[in-house]
Order: sequence, then C-alpha cells, then structure tokens
Amino acid sequence: MKALVLAGGRGTRLRPFTHTVPKQLVPVANKPVLFYGLEAIKAAGITDVGIIVGDHGPAIQSAVGDGAAFGLNIAYIEQHAPLGLAHCVMIAQDFLGDADFLLYLGDNVIIDGVGPLLDAFWRSRPDAMVMTGKVGNPSEYGVAEVGPGGVVTGLAEKPATPRSDLALVGAYVFTPVIHQAVRSIKPSWRNEREITDAIDWLLRSGWRVESHLHGGYWKDTGKAEDLLECNRAVLDTAERSIKGQVDDTCVIHGPVIIEEGAQVSGSRITGPAVIGVAAVVRDSQVGPYTSIGADCDIAGAAIENSVVCAGSTVRGSLRNSLIGREAKVSGDIGRPASLVLGDHSQALLHGAAS
Ligand code: DAU
Repeated sequence: MKALVLAGGRGTRLRPFTHTVPKQLVPVANKPVLFYGLEAIKAAGITDVGIIVGDHGPAIQSAVGDGAAFGLNIAYIEQHAPLGLAHCVMIAQDFLGDADFLLYLGDNVIIDGVGPLLDAFWRSRPDAMVMTGKVGNPSEYGVAEVGPGGVVTGLAEKPATPRSDLALVGAYVFTPVIHQAVRSIKPSWRNEREITDAIDWLLRSGWRVESHLHGGYWKDTGKAEDLLECNRAVLDTAERSIKGQVDDTCVIHGPVIIEEGAQVSGSRITGPAVIGVAAVVRDSQVGPYTSIGADCDIAGAAIENSVVCAGSTVRGSLRNSLIGREAKVSGDIGRPASLVLGDHSQALLHGAAS
C-alpha cells in the first residue's frame, strides 16, 4: 500500500494567506495542516508516499524534506496546473504502479487518522473505498449515497440539491482500476478532472465502491472559518505542558502548552491555547482557543479564538482572527477586531472607543 498526498492547488478560498504560503502549510495548533496527514499515514503503517505539488512546491519540499523526520520515504510529483484530483492520480501512475493506494487530500485534518479506513478496506477489499462524514452543508462537498452494507450507490460533486448528508472526506482507498477511471472521465465545469466523477465511473461500470463512515472530527481547512474551527478541535485534545518561562505574576488556566524558549510575563493564558517556541507574551490575555506561533511578540494584547503565525507582533485586541507570518497589528477600536491578514501585513486599528 502506498499513499498519494495532494498538496498542489490554488488555495483561493484562503487568500490572502495563500499568496505566500500553500494552504497545506498554514498552522493548526502551531503545526502545518499537511503534517497531520503525514503523521496519520505513518501511524497507519504506510511508508511510501508521493506528494503532488504545484506552484508552492519549493515551500512544501523545504518543510517536509525527504520524509525522514516523519519516518516516511517521500517522492515529489509536480503538477504543472491544478487540473483536478483525478488528474493528480493520472500523473502519479508511474509512482503508484499496480499498488493499492490511499489518496489523502493535504488540506484535510482527520482526528483519529486513517487506520480505521484502511482496516475497513482490508476487511472487504472493494474496488474503492471512500471515507464519508455527516455534514450540515453537503452541497459544499462531494456527496455519497450509501445503501445497506455501506455500498455506495451514487455520487455527486458539490451538488446544488444533495441527495444525502454524507460528505466525501479527504481520504480514499483505491485499487489499480482507478487508473482506467481517471482516464475515462472528462473535465468538469470548473475544468478539473474530479475524483468524484472517476469514482462514479467505477460505479457505473459495475465496480464495487464502499463507504467507511467516519464518526470522529475532520475538517477541510480550505477556508478561514474552517481553519479556526479546526484549530479549536485540535487544541481541545491538548494537554498542559509548560516548557518555556512563566513569571509569578501570570495566571495559567486549563490545557496550555508553552513551548521551549517562550517567555510569558504579567499575563493570563486561558487554555486550550499554545504559545510557540521563543514567543514573548507580556501583559496580555491569550485564549481560549488560540495558537501563538514561534517568535511572536505579544504585548498589551487580548487574543481569543485566533491563530497568529510565526514572527508576528500584536498590540491590541483580536478575536476570530488569522494573522499571517511576520505581520504587525496595533491599535484599538474599543472592541476585539476580527482580521484575516496575510504574511508581512500591517494593520493599524483605530476608531472610537465604546
Ligand atoms: O475536503 C473534502 C472535499 O475535497 C471532497 O468532499 C470533495 O469531493 C473533493 O473534490 C475535494 O473538494 P475541494 O474543492 O475542497 O478540493 P480542493 O480543490 O480543495 O483540493 C483538495 C486538495 O488537493 C488540496 O490539498 C489541494 C490539492 N489539489 C487540488 C487540485 C484541484 C491538488 O494537489 N491538485 C489539484 O489539481
């Protein structure tokens, strides 16, 4: 069994973040989204991994390297344009050979990983297995209709009128027959070869496709609000760990992680929250549900339900915000500001105090 991880694409729904960082490297609880997938693959016992990369390939390669840090052997496969998930399978055919493989979408975080999906696949070994999860907004996803015994009977990509509430989660297991399917379909209205259409082609050609219902948490982190929600869900699993320096005037409440070299003084940190390596937090309130990246400089600030990436400076009050790397936020609008700022941005907040 091999794994194919998709880390190309445009990331348009996470702009301005994704002008400078691929969406798969945006941090959740101070760890790039993509790392959750790679760790899940390793935990499931797969070691040969191909990663599809696009324009941001060099950034992905420098973050992940040859895979040794994850216990994986990683090969990179370049996709010249984001022509769809099924196109990724087409260009990976040499890497995949005639192996069964796990397809993992690199912007998905699946708490509990892919082990249960692979176990289910090996139990019945259908021609393909999709992971599904119940959602309230199925038209934003691929949608599966599932009959008795988990047999998939129909599929549609982002349908206007969904026929079920079962979304396709970003993990699939395929046997080599998928190579025939991805070559048999046509690009969709968005000019992408859809993996959903390829699986639908399998169904219509008489191959057996099954669904594994994922009961736990998962998230496609492709949008700012989803990334913040995912940050909350991952932080909810955090355990208290204080490695940095905390002075006597601080109040640290609940599951708080303070990483090596961080310095916290005169502050209240309410968990779940993480303060990154070598970050400085002074005279501030941080949390709950907040990730402060490495080397950040936070002073006179109140930050709640937010992700602040490495090297940023915050003075002032933020809520529900995503702040890119080496950004600067200062000022006061009399209430917490909600911002999405790309790397190296500066925001000066001013307005009537209420
Ligand atoms: O997250 C689950 C959903 O993912 C499924 O429910 C949908 O059926 C499936 O089509 C997919 O939908 P998205 O529209 O969210 O896919 P997205 O364009 O975000 O791409 C998923 C990952 O694949 C992401 O890491 C980017 C990467 N990618 C995407 C394209 C289109 C590539 O590497 N190459 C590509 O050409």
